Amino acid sequence: MTSLDLTTTYLGLQLKNPLVASASPLSKKVDVVRRLEDAGAAAVVMYSLFEEQITHESQELDHYLERGTHSYAESLSYFPDLDEYNLGPEPYLEHLHRIKEAVSIPVIGSLNGVSSGGWVEYAHKIEQAGADALELNIYYLPTDINLSGTELEETYVNLVRDIRTRVKLPIAVKLSPFFTSIPNMVKRLVEAGTNGLVLFNRFYQPDFDLDELKVVPDLDLSTSYELRLPLRWIAILYGQVAADFALTSGVHTAHDVLKAMMAGASIAMMASELLAHGLGRLGHILADIQQWMEENEYESIAQMKGCMSQRAVGEPAAFERANYMKALNSFDYYLP
Ligand SMILES: Cc1cc2nc3c(=O)[nH]c(=O)nc-3n(C[C@H](O)[C@H](O)[C@H](O)COP(=O)(O)O)c2cc1C
Repeated sequence: MTSLDLTTTYLGLQLKNPLVASASPLSKKVDVVRRLEDAGAAAVVMYSLFEEQITHESQELDHYLERGTHSYAESLSYFPDLDEYNLGPEPYLEHLHRIKEAVSIPVIGSLNGVSSGGWVEYAHKIEQAGADALELNIYYLPTDINLSGTELEETYVNLVRDIRTRVKLPIAVKLSPFFTSIPNMVKRLVEAGTNGLVLFNRFYQPDFDLDELKVVPDLDLSTSYELRLPLRWIAILYGQVAADFALTSGVHTAHDVLKAMMAGASIAMMASELLAHGLGRLGHILADIQQWMEENEYESIAQMKGCMSQRAVGEPAAFERANYMKALNSFDYYLP
């Protein structure tokens, strides 16, 4: 067996392979993070510390919450009872510190919020607690018809600019796919100082209970099909901005990881697969990646990075609108 080079770099961190455990309850216990490391994870992202947990009374936050209280519920939809689920701000920092002491893989802290305000001081506290990088999950669901996209996007950019001034740590911004122009948003966030983009955050869309006439939060784990959205956008963006990409949503198999690398991602993040099928999946996926590389004569992950990006492929229109019409026409076959 030839020796294969699975290493990659992300936000300036040298990683032994591209598999990273994304923000999830898996980081709630030090022991589980230790087991993630043993199972082969190259780095771990902590579950998020939410702005809502830090400053319930923040005026900045109120300003946003007043504009549509449903967005607050949406931001909490990962955890129906946030206070019960997550540690408060100070215990979060202690927990991060304990994880850092327990493992030698990089540990990425995670802040989840939207407004610039006192709470962003926690970026610095996460740095002091020993994090190797900071992931900033920015998400606001606009329900106010008077709030323009421009205004909201400016909020995102300002938050990144603000946090950039407070930490030396590398920063990655985790985004939702709901922007009119993802490339322009990404460009502005990079100009504001982010070193990486985590594409894309995944949301649990509420369902209706017809018997109770209630809106119910519904937590479904992802499938590999969901990979396609971040795959396409990383392929389009790769090489266009000076930032690293992490792919999240829909990574379940070795093929998913290989596709992420070929689109141009530096790492492939996993949550659903590990929650549903256990940490042992990391070892199997790594073995499958190596087998695939051998069979297809690849020596390193670096070698395949971005080889299927829009810039690299022979048919760049495959990522664009032209391909949409082609795809629709392919269904003519089904005509009776
Ligand atoms: C139970 C659960 C909790 C999560 N908690 C967080 C969180 O605290 N912060 C965050 O940024 N993402 C969180 N996520 C999102 C994941 O990090 C990931 O981006 C998303 O699940 C898509 O990846 P997947 O297809 O591998 O699950 C959570 C996901 C799940 C399933």
